[in-house]
Amino acid sequence: MPVTLPLVTFDPDLGLAVLRTAHSVYALRVAADGSPRHVYWGAPLDTEALAALPEAASPAASSFEADAAADELAPQTGARFGPAGLQVRFADGTRGAQWHFAGHTVDGGELRLRLEDRRRPLRAELCYRVRADSDVVERWTELSHAGAAEDGAADRRAPITVNRLDSASWTAPALPDYRLSHLVGGWNSEFQLQRDRLPVAELVLTSRRGLTGHHAAPWLALDDGTADEERGEVWSTALAWSGSWRVTVHRDPVGRTTWTGGFGHEGIGWTLRPGETLRTPVYGGLYTRHGFGGASRAWHAHVRRHVLPEPGRDRPVLYNSWEATGFDVDEAGQIRLAHLAARVGAELFVLDDGWFGTRRDDRSGLGDWTPRPEAFPRGLRPLADEVHRLGMEFGLWVEPEMVNPDSELYRAHPDWTVHSAHLDATELRNQLVLNFARPEVEAWAYETLDRLVRENAVDWLKWDANRPFTETCGGGGHDPDRVWIDHTRAVHRVMDRLRADHPGLRIEACAGGGGRVDLGILARTDQAWTSDNTDAVDRLDIQHGFSQLFPAQTMAAWVTDSPNPATGRSTPLRFRFHVAMAGALGLGGDLTRWSEDELAEAAELVARYKEIRPLVQRGVQHRVAPSGPVTAVHYAAPDDSEHVLLVRRPATRFGHHPAPVRLPALDPGARYVDLDLKREYSGAVLVGRGIDPRLPAGDYASSLIRLRRVDS
Ligand code: DGJ
Repeated sequence: MPVTLPLVTFDPDLGLAVLRTAHSVYALRVAADGSPRHVYWGAPLDTEALAALPEAASPAASSFEADAAADELAPQTGARFGPAGLQVRFADGTRGAQWHFAGHTVDGGELRLRLEDRRRPLRAELCYRVRADSDVVERWTELSHAGAAEDGAADRRAPITVNRLDSASWTAPALPDYRLSHLVGGWNSEFQLQRDRLPVAELVLTSRRGLTGHHAAPWLALDDGTADEERGEVWSTALAWSGSWRVTVHRDPVGRTTWTGGFGHEGIGWTLRPGETLRTPVYGGLYTRHGFGGASRAWHAHVRRHVLPEPGRDRPVLYNSWEATGFDVDEAGQIRLAHLAARVGAELFVLDDGWFGTRRDDRSGLGDWTPRPEAFPRGLRPLADEVHRLGMEFGLWVEPEMVNPDSELYRAHPDWTVHSAHLDATELRNQLVLNFARPEVEAWAYETLDRLVRENAVDWLKWDANRPFTETCGGGGHDPDRVWIDHTRAVHRVMDRLRADHPGLRIEACAGGGGRVDLGILARTDQAWTSDNTDAVDRLDIQHGFSQLFPAQTMAAWVTDSPNPATGRSTPLRFRFHVAMAGALGLGGDLTRWSEDELAEAAELVARYKEIRPLVQRGVQHRVAPSGPVTAVHYAAPDDSEHVLLVRRPATRFGHHPAPVRLPALDPGARYVDLDLKREYSGAVLVGRGIDPRLPAGDYASSLIRLRRVDS
């Protein structure tokens, strides 16, 4: 339901700002000390009621807690002892800002609060944006040095050190208890959902790797410990940043929980020069009373409407050669695979690592983006042309931010890496990181990729990044600390330029699997490679975690060989498909070793996926059986006309029959027909009792159930 009241109002007399989303309200007030303080975030309330609310103050009554109200961005001065969202140091050693409120602007759904330091040339704008068709409040901060380099007064021209500039600080209401949901993992085990009671402590979720990271995600959800998939109040936030980041959650001993987050990590400063503005990435937050499923659906809707560059475009069924060939790629072998991929219904053929320079393994060639002559003596164009002739698009793997020391690029530009000349550089996967913060490196990357795309009629780039940052420095006279932010900004810029200059080009985000998936990278890519672990059983958990924030169309999922190369587990082809069909389906096995029967079954299942693709990629996702021996996801057409259910049971227990799966999203007053069984059900039965999951006996059982609403 779109909002009809103004999206944003600001009452200058009360200093009260009210932001309305489709199903929630966010309110704050500028306090007497000039600092914006949190007032309310939750179910809709009218402005009169909000005006009567006090600021979210600390319940502790003593001089030790005097100023401890919840700031929208705590400035490290006053009696504030929680994690500061802004940490600055002036040239004379003074730390912290003291604000004077200098005014506001409202422009449609955007609110800006202007703050000026009472004595120093420092200004901040706390920025908010809401939209009528989303529940997300987007927030960011712009911090400016208001002095000038030529100013006579030394303190107006001296740079200001910014030790922390968060995008936003958030405050949960007083709840009887707090529980934190977040994502943890590692390579091959990304997006594991962790749901624990929040301790009375400061808890830091962070990445110090220069990448979003496999091990943590800049997303969290907070509830009082009683929410479930469909019910309960949930507050959830996600940072749109693809480099190092930090979110500090603080549950204090007197019962309040706040969290503050942004780019960078501890120990990294930004020297703000006179006249300069530092703008943070967007940190979005949403409130729902429809549980974790409601929170995910609200995120998915937001990502589709306001993050993804081309949400309406079908994600193609792709074939990727990596698990089939490793580095052992050549023209003949790839053409053989391309024919088989086309036969089973792939729409995009992606040539992965190993096609360039001297690259026969991970020891050399990275950085030399010209086809390897022994493998592609005629260049890549004949393969691209054959792929196109077969009716597929042509995709190419690249890893533009990295270099092997054993490469022509490194020999020509040893100073182009981020690594300090005064420390031994740690090689990971035999490679170093190129410093995209240097304009000449960014320019080289853009030109190289632009040439590759143009010369080889590339429709799709798989942009990989296989190591984190270590021993980072600026190089070439650049400020070493800026690398952490400027590198990521440059990666985003190169992707944006490529898309702008090659309309139609699509980009898949990858960092050794799901090491760089966030709302920042998804603003310039179409989907993300979820994990190098393609084992269908492990994928169930990975996909469950991924779906907390990201919609299914962004979740690349391949069907690969059995036994799985990562885990050695053998699973039936149908089970592997029914897991991968829950996202953007791909194939990644060695099709030359699949039997005729397997190829025929794969072709049938790919065809079936194309039928349900509009529902999976553009429908509304409900995790109807999120845990237990049977897991199921339900994708509903927004108008309730069509539904698909994917049910998976990795292991049978005691020979018990699986329980019916309830479908709470259906209309109890409607009737639905099972398109395969041709059997009709009442919606009330499917909502209240559930549908028989129709699982065959045994392990790795799965089913795909399609329902259509029957007009009465
Ligand atoms: C890591 C990626 O996640 C894989 O899919 C593959 O592209 C390899 N890199 C290639 O080196």
